[in-house]
Amino acid sequence: MTESKLTLDGQQVEFTPGETLYELASRHGKTIPTLCYDPRLEPFGGCRLCAVELEGTKAPVASCTMRATPGMVVRTDSQSLDKLRRTLLEMVASENRELEVDPLRGYASQQLKELVDRYGARTGRFKGRTSGKSHADDNPFILRDYDLCISCYRCVRVCAEQEGDYAISIMNRGFETRITTEFEGKLKDSQCTFCGQCVQTCPTGALADRKALANAKIPGETRKTRTTCAYCGVGCSLDVLSRGDRIVGVHPAMDGPANEGALCIKGQFAFDFVHHPDRLKSPLVRGEDGELHEASWDEALDRAARGLGQVIEEHGRHSVYCIASGRTPSEACYLMGKFVRAGLGTSYIDNCSRA
Ligand code: SF4
Ligand code: SF4
Ligand code: FES
Repeated sequence: MTESKLTLDGQQVEFTPGETLYELASRHGKTIPTLCYDPRLEPFGGCRLCAVELEGTKAPVASCTMRATPGMVVRTDSQSLDKLRRTLLEMVASENRELEVDPLRGYASQQLKELVDRYGARTGRFKGRTSGKSHADDNPFILRDYDLCISCYRCVRVCAEQEGDYAISIMNRGFETRITTEFEGKLKDSQCTFCGQCVQTCPTGALADRKALANAKIPGETRKTRTTCAYCGVGCSLDVLSRGDRIVGVHPAMDGPANEGALCIKGQFAFDFVHHPDRLKSPLVRGEDGELHEASWDEALDRAARGLGQVIEEHGRHSVYCIASGRTPSEACYLMGKFVRAGLGTSYIDNCSRA
């Protein structure tokens, strides 16, 4: 046996230094269940659902935190692991108000329900005391429905590790455990930037996207369309959720190369401008009466060209200054630079992009 090999479900496999048993098993196509795990975050080892059998240890170990070492003999699947996972799920699900939540609540909101179904867990087996206390929070973006919270702390960890915000934290222990902000206040009075990452990682829908939920009554199947956020030049990938011709929500793309599941408040929640009645759908030019009127693109571009030409003729080429929109893609920015430098003869150009 070479240094970096172990036995996984009876097979010799090679691992890379630092790899956890969960990562190794996933790489080999094993489907180990997880609840507190989010691949973007430091492993936490809270839910124990990812337990695997490790030869030489009395009890199963959490595969998400256990690093692979040479010579280990690991089993990811057995009747007793199934029983353990089912019992853990029954404990979690027994104190959860409901498992059937609208998928519009968030990206990961169906995870607990899917696992309960997969393991045939009985949801009322350990009925009794419950933890979690929902928080009346009048912000327009995030519903804090902690009756559905299973204390996986993914929200707290994503807020700290991904967003660097530390807006939410854990208080108390046992049945009194609660996710809270400083002084138990409202999110809008905290450090929260409303990036929505806590919503999207929550595996029960306890944290939910209020703006998407407001569209829950729109009929039809929800379709996902992968695209790039149009708000700035960072280029975050996202999936637009639509029903018919209506956009009903946004999910961050967890595999987006620029954002790895992160979005800002605009990319996550400000999708409703698309259907807003005030949205400009055609160019406007000012008429003789001083008012703005709808015009064709040819008419508007002619007017802009005439205006720019006139100003340059009267006041010189450095009298004009151009700002490209932060929403412009690289190719359009390049064209704008050419137009301003080669066309208008000035280098007075800027872009309001954050990138
Ligand atoms: S919305 Fe973002 S900043 Fe606010 S609590 Fe959630 S993760 Fe933290
Ligand atoms: S609110 Fe959701 S993500 Fe946060 S601890 Fe509870 S179940 Fe986990
Ligand atoms: S996923 Fe490993 S302990 Fe929760």
